[in-house]
Amino acid sequence: MITISLVSTCPANGTLILPVVKDGLSGAALPGLSPENVSLLRAAGSAQRFEGDSGSVSDSFFVPDTGSRRILLAGVGKGTVDDFEKLGAAVAARLLTSGETEAVIDLSGLAITPSPEAVARLASGIVLRGWRYDVYRTKLPEKQKPTLQGVSICGAPVGSEAAWEAARGVVEGVAFTRELVTEPANVVFPETFVERCRKLEALGVEIEVLGREQMAAAGMGALLGVSQGSVREPQLLVMRWDGTGGKKSPPLVFVGKGVTFDTGGISLKPPAGMEDMKWDMGGAGAVAGTMLALATRKAKAHVVGVCALVENMPDGNAQRPGDVVTSMSGQTIEVINTDAEGRLVLCDAMTWVQRKYAPKVMIDLATLTGAMIISLGFEHAGIFSNDDELSDSLIKAGKAAGDPLWRFPLSPAYDKLIESPIADMKNVGPREGGSITAAQFLQRFVDEGVKWAHLDIAGMVWASKPGAVWDKGATGYGVRLLDRFVGDNFEG
Ligand code: BES
Ligand code: MN
Ligand code: ZN
Repeated sequence: MITISLVSTCPANGTLILPVVKDGLSGAALPGLSPENVSLLRAAGSAQRFEGDSGSVSDSFFVPDTGSRRILLAGVGKGTVDDFEKLGAAVAARLLTSGETEAVIDLSGLAITPSPEAVARLASGIVLRGWRYDVYRTKLPEKQKPTLQGVSICGAPVGSEAAWEAARGVVEGVAFTRELVTEPANVVFPETFVERCRKLEALGVEIEVLGREQMAAAGMGALLGVSQGSVREPQLLVMRWDGTGGKKSPPLVFVGKGVTFDTGGISLKPPAGMEDMKWDMGGAGAVAGTMLALATRKAKAHVVGVCALVENMPDGNAQRPGDVVTSMSGQTIEVINTDAEGRLVLCDAMTWVQRKYAPKVMIDLATLTGAMIISLGFEHAGIFSNDDELSDSLIKAGKAAGDPLWRFPLSPAYDKLIESPIADMKNVGPREGGSITAAQFLQRFVDEGVKWAHLDIAGMVWASKPGAVWDKGATGYGVRLLDRFVGDNFEG
């Protein structure tokens, strides 16, 4: 990860980055340059059609009196916090493999004074966009190797250090999620997912793990039915962070779908693109990353994160279409399609955590349905909720944090579609409205009085092209959203 330093005096070496507001180039102060070079640099910027739009960058070289051999003009648009994050991401994308190792962002000449939060978002944008996972690339050509190691920021207002300190935890949480999501399923499976989360204990997170035996004793027939076709032992990973010193109970609860690989089971998926199903644990990954973020920044909140970890495989012991399983709640389920496994895994995790912690608020995250991608593409995750206020605050947090959500309906008419002739319900409805019937299924496992939201993040976990603060690959969706939601509603 790129290292950020907030410094009071600007280092004289390294690529110099000068932020400029929209249409501000002609009057930009451009500190550290002689008057002649200020004119030269302005001319170079306008020759490159640089107008200060957020995320735009113009590159110039060899301005002698700075001691820097490369100078970037970087647009900060109107100067919102999002603009600052965009600036950071654009600079990281430009410099990551450029050959440059150090860069300096000088904020002192900027026409507006950024808030400490804006500086933190600037730094977050750099580190998030600069994240990569090259551990398996033993033959990466020299020119494709990342070079940028450190970015110094000077001219930042008082309070920026503290703001970045808090934001850094969130960035680390996102990085952890991306790592878990990126790892292939022969490396990260239920037990190794748990092992990777053990490092949270050193941050003060309490960890409890249920294996197959304990889950059988608890009666989790739905979750175990999914895992029975795999040689990997399923795990229910429970992480608890209490930053309130025992003052707040019950905890806020997050539940993540952690299918470390989804073949579909006996209802086998077609081969094309099946490799994508290594990231069918993106919900659990987001929960783990959020717990890391909260513990790292010592959030003053009491939160329990549950990861329901299984592998969905089609061996001789696998469950069959038509099987009836009994969930921990006692409700029976006819398994029509073994590829609709996420809801089977989540329902038992939800029952377990409600019995153990009696939460007032429970939020689940899952790469639950392909239908969600048909509805919303790759721009929003879907949210379903039994509580308008909860839904509104999640949508608001998502918007502010850069993880957007769009709400979908729930109603008895949809619920009717999963009635079964043999059991209390079946695990799939008709093709139409597939994301909604999946949510209706989950709602049947929400206890009376519990405010619940279900986030179907199927389209958001993995990106086929670079986005706002990610390269193609794992996005870390959900961590910034949940962290912001906790910060806005469950601290102080
Ligand atoms: N993990 C998939 C959903 C998914 C598909 C996520 C593509 C991301 C990309 C889920 O377990 C699944 O297979 N859902 C089925 C449900 C169907 C059988 C009712 C689906 O969406 O096709
Ligand atoms: Mn599936
Ligand atoms: Zn799945």
